[in-house]
Amino acid sequence: MKVLVAYMSSTGNTKKVAEAIYDEIPCEKEIKPIREVADIGAYDLTFLGFPTHQYGPDKKTKEYMAKHCRDGRKVALFVTHCAPEGVPELAGWMAKFKEAAAGANLVGFFDCQGQLAKGVELIMRMSTNEKIRFFAKNHHSTGQPDEARLMRARAFARDTLSRMV
Ligand SMILES: Cc1cc2nc3c(=O)[nH]c(=O)nc-3n(C[C@H](O)[C@H](O)[C@H](O)COP(=O)(O)O)c2cc1C
Repeated sequence: MKVLVAYMSSTGNTKKVAEAIYDEIPCEKEIKPIREVADIGAYDLTFLGFPTHQYGPDKKTKEYMAKHCRDGRKVALFVTHCAPEGVPELAGWMAKFKEAAAGANLVGFFDCQGQLAKGVELIMRMSTNEKIRFFAKNHHSTGQPDEARLMRARAFARDTLSRMV
């Protein structure tokens, strides 16, 4: 089995999760930023990771998923967000990622908190949109993804792989 871990990551959080997943894969494997992946169709299974941007996948992410998540290809999604895992809004945001992957055979899904970069936080705090200002002030994401979250990511990888045989 040939497995790909592909990720988009502007500030390093999703990359950290991608690397944790990659470490758990015992068979033939590659890890790459999505911009370096021509076609996930060359792999038996792809772990595909993105950050949450504005309450779901951003336009580029949706386009990428529409292009690659098709023909029942086996895809396990992983997503980071600065909101804590327990917040009620999260289910809707994560559902948008799953929708964007609808053409694939979604064999796994994982999400965890990732730190909101300080520069982004400052810009959001100055936004004219009250919702975004509130969000920037209330995310409490410093230090994420921490080791506990990366351990959960590794367990997700092992569990997904165990269901492939
Ligand atoms: C433009 C922008 C929009 C974001 N919107 C959200 C959001 O709606 N919900 C959320 O929980 N986090 C949001 N975040 C935070 C990121 O999803 C989070 O920090 C993520 O872990 C970043 O991953 P990366 O370091 O791999 O880029 C946003 C970040 C940016 C830069």
